Amino acid sequence: MKILITGGAGFIGSHVVRLFVNKYPDYQIFNLDNLTYAGNLGNLRDVENAPNYTFLKADITDSASMQDLFRDYQFDGVIHLAAESHVDRSISDPMSFIMTNIVGTVNLLNAARANWKDMEGKRFYHVSTDEVYGTLGETGLFTEETPYDPRSPYSASKASSDHLVRAYNHTYHMPVVLSNCSNNYGSYQFPEKLIPLVINNIKHGKPLPIYGDGKYTRDWLWVGDHAAAIDLVYHKGRDGETYNIGGNNERKNLDLVHTLCDTVDELLGRTVGEARKTITFVKDRPGHDRRYAIDATKIKDELGWEPTVNPEEGLKMTAEWYLKNEEWLDNVTSGAYQKFYDKQYG
Ligand code: NAD
Ligand code: TYD
Repeated sequence: MKILITGGAGFIGSHVVRLFVNKYPDYQIFNLDNLTYAGNLGNLRDVENAPNYTFLKADITDSASMQDLFRDYQFDGVIHLAAESHVDRSISDPMSFIMTNIVGTVNLLNAARANWKDMEGKRFYHVSTDEVYGTLGETGLFTEETPYDPRSPYSASKASSDHLVRAYNHTYHMPVVLSNCSNNYGSYQFPEKLIPLVINNIKHGKPLPIYGDGKYTRDWLWVGDHAAAIDLVYHKGRDGETYNIGGNNERKNLDLVHTLCDTVDELLGRTVGEARKTITFVKDRPGHDRRYAIDATKIKDELGWEPTVNPEEGLKMTAEWYLKNEEWLDNVTSGAYQKFYDKQYG
């Protein structure tokens, strides 16, 4: 079995690559990534020499190279995670999101379609976000039936790619499966996203920016639980289906940041309460979605998946990881990894 994992040098992708390389020694795992600012091979040091692992530096927006790679390697399955993933960047530069998230996904679908003459045993798994459903009020949860209502360039680009994946299933009988997941946290997340950004800023004594009133709500899921869900959906999910994945762990941003502040203060041996003093309310994100929350009943009932890590434990584990992995943090924030791998791979 040859599995192509796209975006494997990124945050979630690196956890999925690690899980598959270690758990399935009989599979050949190909990690395709073009190593943007968010992707670096320093996330995969522990598996880079595994005999069943191969890195392919390529850009999914390059249709010819996607066709060539599928022809040369004859992948049996695809787990597609490569994307531009940060909402704030999508507001300042929507086009790169259109190119990677929409055009890149279609290039992969076309390459799979051209090479999978016999669709038997093949699978194209598209990893997506709950942000495609738009925003919730004070109550309610996103289910797989919630109508799409994306409101940022990021979520609109992911919604578009979800529709295209489903369209290839209906039109060309491409065997696909999808999942839409809530906010992830854990090791190896680029420190522009809220949790690693806050930990890194506390460490450096920098202000902790809270957008708007801080009462925006997200449903946080530990990345290891997401990787386990991806493994299940890839192997056991029903063809053409979508599975919502969530942490059942809603937090208002300000409450989450308070917990992080106190956790990091404790880990650094500082007086608890110090970090909270650096919280700074800043201008709100334009079009900021108020609340996301997932109903993950379907994946629980059909595939037996549930989150295993409780939020307090998960946040503490995560804060410890970032404080311990200072070199990683310094390398990704200074661009040092990027320079190193650019030299190595051109
Ligand atoms: P990330 O930004 O950390 O990683 C994205 C990876 O894709 C990077 O390694 C980057 O180099 C690679 N990439 C970007 N453009 C590429 C291109 N043109 N060609 C090849 N590779 C390219 O993202 P993440 O947080 O790990 O998210 C992974 C996937 O999961 C995305 O599809 C995202 O939409 C989805 N998702 C993320 C979250 C979350 O909380 N982070 C939640 C739900 C869904
Ligand atoms: P983020 O980690 O960017 O994920 P997403 O926008 O995909 O949900 O942001 C999580 C929440 O935290 C979101 O409501 C925006 C907010 N936020 C801040 O208040 N300050 C920040 O510096 C960042 C990056 C995010």
